[in-house]
Amino acid sequence: MLSDEQNRRLTQVGAGTPMGELLRRYWMPIAAVAELDDKATKPVRLLGEDLVLYRDQSGTYGLLDRHCAHRRADLSYGWVEDCGLRCHYHGWVWDHTGKCLQQPFEEVANPEARFKERVRIKAYPVEAKAGLLWAYLGPPPVPLVATWEPFTWRNGFVQIVFSEVPCNWFQCQENSIDPVHFEWLHSHWTRVLQGDGGPKPPTHLKIGFEEFEYGFVYRRVLEGQSESDELWTVGRTCLWPNCLFTGGHFEWRVPIDDENMLSVGWFFDRVPNEMEPFTQDRIPYWYSPISEARTGRWITTHVMNQDFVAWVGQGALSDRTQEHLCESDRGIILMRKRMLEQAELVARGGEPKAVIRDPAQNACVRLPIIGRQYFVGGYSRADSDKRRGRTPGLVQRRDFPFLTGQPDEIRQAFRRAMGLDAEVPGDVRSPG
Ligand code: FES
Ligand SMILES: [Fe+2]
Repeated sequence: MLSDEQNRRLTQVGAGTPMGELLRRYWMPIAAVAELDDKATKPVRLLGEDLVLYRDQSGTYGLLDRHCAHRRADLSYGWVEDCGLRCHYHGWVWDHTGKCLQQPFEEVANPEARFKERVRIKAYPVEAKAGLLWAYLGPPPVPLVATWEPFTWRNGFVQIVFSEVPCNWFQCQENSIDPVHFEWLHSHWTRVLQGDGGPKPPTHLKIGFEEFEYGFVYRRVLEGQSESDELWTVGRTCLWPNCLFTGGHFEWRVPIDDENMLSVGWFFDRVPNEMEPFTQDRIPYWYSPISEARTGRWITTHVMNQDFVAWVGQGALSDRTQEHLCESDRGIILMRKRMLEQAELVARGGEPKAVIRDPAQNACVRLPIIGRQYFVGGYSRADSDKRRGRTPGLVQRRDFPFLTGQPDEIRQAFRRAMGLDAEVPGDVRSPG
């Protein structure tokens, strides 16, 4: 059980708060690269700050204060030019460093004043990697955007899915180190929802947690498995500071503000050997709804939707003074402790864990990956079907089990990539 003060420290994300300052030491994914092909500006709220993301006509990305430094108009209604973003109100132009490039009327009326040289707007760096746009809101020196190992893989169909979830980011990240929930929130609940009379899902016999350079590994032994299975020997990753990595996908819990979180999923489906070589010109993205339009109730049909239901159910900001933690929560206790310590370290001017600055180290940052060989080398269709079921997550999927509302064109592109012709219903879901 935590005190009110500890709960606040763990959850508040504004500038100047302990966790807000810790989180500002890391790049955050905020949009898909392809999103700015569709529209050149995007309003973004990140870590409690209102911003506008854009790509100008020379291809430079910028992330600026949402409000123009002249008289505060909303720059997400501005338009991009060769260099920079022009405010729609009086035409001032800002560049990605926060410099004012033009003030049309001032340059006519009072050119000697050079007023534009004396005003600036808040600006943050943006980088593209793995089909995502990343933002860094912290102090210099700016670290590198991590090249996680799956970003270097080939022959995969990648898709990016966003959902806005109305609760604090940290209760979502606690789920990244909670192996037991899978059995109940996903396996059992799905059976109940579907009225499925099939065999009961395997129960957890043993769980283990351990810290490493980039976060924590959690391990499990399920009924029918042993400590020689990869769910125990390799485990899955609670990736520091705000991500779950299962091997085939990442789920970032990006804080919008204290009571809202942007879920950013990056999913890799290895195409069968028969479909190689496979490349993507553009990594597709989509937004997944979280509630039913008709009833306003949360959607429960897909794996991550079920997670969202649990998180929002804890309240916009879970009251940790009222909990009763136990053995299944050992990983959560470990993570909370490390978060608070790392926030204190940053407050004292120290460098927190998992900040990557060395380009050689960042060529490919390896993580624990169950079935790495499968993701790298792939299987043929027939071989994949034989392996179905033994180690969850290592199958060629036929549909998208994680989030609801996948657009038809993305589903079609996925099916073409995987070489799926006739519809084959059903799939094996992978523990998160
Ligand atoms: S408010 Fe932006 S130019 Fe005046
Ligand atoms: Fe889950």
